[in-house]
Amino acid sequence: MKIDVVSIFPEYLAGLQLSLIGKAVDQGLLDLTVHDLRDFTFDRHNTVDDSPYGGGAGMVMKAEPWALALENILDEPKAAGAGTPQKSILIVPSPAGPVFNQRIAEELSEAEHLVFACGRYEGIDQRVIDWSAEHFDLRPMSIGDYVLNGGEVASMVMIEAVSRLVPGVIGNPESLTEESHEDGLLEYPIYTKPASWRGRDVPDILLSGNHGAIARWRRDRRLELTAEVRPDLLAELQDLDKHDRAVVE
Ligand code: ADE
Repeated sequence: MKIDVVSIFPEYLAGLQLSLIGKAVDQGLLDLTVHDLRDFTFDRHNTVDDSPYGGGAGMVMKAEPWALALENILDEPKAAGAGTPQKSILIVPSPAGPVFNQRIAEELSEAEHLVFACGRYEGIDQRVIDWSAEHFDLRPMSIGDYVLNGGEVASMVMIEAVSRLVPGVIGNPESLTEESHEDGLLEYPIYTKPASWRGRDVPDILLSGNHGAIARWRRDRRLELTAEVRPDLLAELQDLDKHDRAVVE
């Protein structure tokens, strides 16, 4: 998967060089490039913003540097994939977008090319957003109902959530199937040695070696936890059987 990020703070994205994502880049599973928007400005001050037409607080990011940066990305040669090339997906982090979730992460993990446009200030001139819809599969995307100072942190959140689903990025693919949000339930509690710690014992069942009973216990804990802290997730689940329903009621 190819990932391009455009930002006026490229150093912000340095964290992506660490840990599993950094390793996946080193291994060639991810081709990640961070571009500095100011490289696409031609005045002495590398201006990327200006005051809003119609008045109001704050500044607006100018259209032309964005168009040049995005055109530059589209012009780059892409790895030849099988079949017809997919349109590149342009993700514009914004609190005004639909809310990102695990389903969207799964969908995006199958894309060939993701581009993240990290806006700052009050946002980007709407005309370049409209223009980009002609060249990209445009996806405004929020990471939650709160306001950040720019799109960098939101992009890092989405890049991490998507990248770890790309085959090969996580060493043991089984760890992906048993985690929170994968099937709509939150994760069960986990324990490691010692079996007794400061007077607190690991639940007996986990020491029993009875795999069927452990699986049932874990599912029950997931159901209980989800019912307690995220009843909204539980309400969306269609496949609860009689036992499951008895646990959550
Ligand atoms: N930019 C500012 N706030 C944001 C949010 N909640 N999600 C995505 N991008 C943002």
